[in-house]
Amino acid sequence: MAGLFISFEGPDGAGKTTVLSAITERFKAAKRTDILVTREPGGNQISEAIRNIILDPKNTQMDVRTEALLYAASRRQLIQETIRPALAADKVVLCDRFVDSSVAYQGAGRQIGEDEVYQMNQFATEGLTPDLTIYVDVPSEVGLARIKAHRKNVDRLDAEALSFHKRVRAAYLRLAERFPERIVTIDATQPVADVIDQAMTLITDKMKQRQ
Ligand SMILES: Nc1ncnc2c1ncn2[C@@H]1O[C@H](COP(=O)(O)OP(=O)(O)OP(=O)(O)O)[C@@H](O)[C@H]1O
Ligand SMILES: [Mg+2]
Repeated sequence: MAGLFISFEGPDGAGKTTVLSAITERFKAAKRTDILVTREPGGNQISEAIRNIILDPKNTQMDVRTEALLYAASRRQLIQETIRPALAADKVVLCDRFVDSSVAYQGAGRQIGEDEVYQMNQFATEGLTPDLTIYVDVPSEVGLARIKAHRKNVDRLDAEALSFHKRVRAAYLRLAERFPERIVTIDATQPVADVIDQAMTLITDKMKQRQ
């Protein structure tokens, strides 16, 4: 397939969105028009509507598999409507979260099972996998402290117990070990400027490899 697909992964508060928006600004300043930035769950009208159901603090009755299926449904729509067309147009797609998030949060966090969630997602992705995954890693306590310090509205997932977030991070570390050729880990306890520089280098190296 043409194009380049790069996902950003990491526990809550690791800095995915911060790093991604800084990188977007850099590409904008360089007048690159072949970069598409998107996020999960969301990124288009249908996916954003699904996102709102998932994250609504009122939905305390949501079954864990319902939640996993909604994430996969949102992902499917994003792939079909946004990601695949952009890749076909030879763009670089930078996506805030992808399948690894479901494996970590639903598989390990909600304890459905990492392999089961991975397999279920294959139906949604038809095998579409990032060329590179930048995993920003922080201990759960650090990520949660950042969120508490900065965010006004805490959503349904942020409010989970520390043990949930620890399972999520442990699953991410397992994924990074299992897919070393795809997933590159950045220590996100470093100053944010360093994390941004390291992520930028990974992306530009990958872009050069492609040419
Ligand atoms: N390396 C860093 N050092 C210190 N603070 C940071 C760092 N990276 C991000 N932050 C701060 O931590 C907070 C959370 O960052 P951000 O929203 O980017 O995390 P996230 O990974 O996108 O989280 P979520 O999974 O909840 O979307 C922000 O207030 C951000 O400014
Ligand atoms: Mg974010």
